[in-house]
Amino acid sequence: MHRFILENPEKTDTFGGVLAQSIQHLEHLVHEQGLNIRLNGDLGAGKTATTRAMLRALGVDGRIKSPTFTLLETYPLDNELEVFHYDFYRFETPEEFLDAGFRDDFAPGHITMVEWSEKAEPCLPDADLILTLCVEGSGRSVTLEPQSDFGSTLTEEIATRWNSLAAN
Ligand SMILES: Nc1ncnc2c1ncn2[C@@H]1O[C@H](COP(=O)(O)OP(=O)(O)OP(=O)(O)O)[C@@H](O)[C@H]1O
Ligand SMILES: [Mg+2]
Repeated sequence: MHRFILENPEKTDTFGGVLAQSIQHLEHLVHEQGLNIRLNGDLGAGKTATTRAMLRALGVDGRIKSPTFTLLETYPLDNELEVFHYDFYRFETPEEFLDAGFRDDFAPGHITMVEWSEKAEPCLPDADLILTLCVEGSGRSVTLEPQSDFGSTLTEEIATRWNSLAAN
């Protein structure tokens, strides 16, 4: 488990960039198995901000909306990968996840980023990595908890990049 301090919103952008670079480095695994990331943390903790920073760094231009009202926003990338950004805050029952047909999105080549995953338990497929955002004074922290071999490899990749940035 790793925990990084994000003192200000710029650091969240930096973290999103490191996440994007690490995913690109392991792109072959995303093509083979897909990648499932959960973003935990309270309202306003920075789940959407982190996802937005990652998407920007992956080359997405234009407006990146929060999926608060739409439940899902999708972003095709130019390397034939696709990002699925969900927010299940408005779910009344976890079965809404299945009724909406979201189960099929959790597939090879797809990167799923899930906010308010607890609202879809136990219908949600297993995560590779859980990112927990926390308010720390005027800043934030992010904790990385891998849940699979891919999640562990990705976490090590992220930590190496983050620590080398911090050292400079
Ligand atoms: N490292 C940081 N330090 C201080 N403020 C930050 C930091 N990172 C992001 N923020 C700010 O915190 C807020 C996070 O909002 P965001 O919409 O990302 O929260 P969220 O976790 O997605 O909430 P929700 O559960 O409502 O979807 C934004 O106003 C953003 O500018
Ligand atoms: Mg959000």
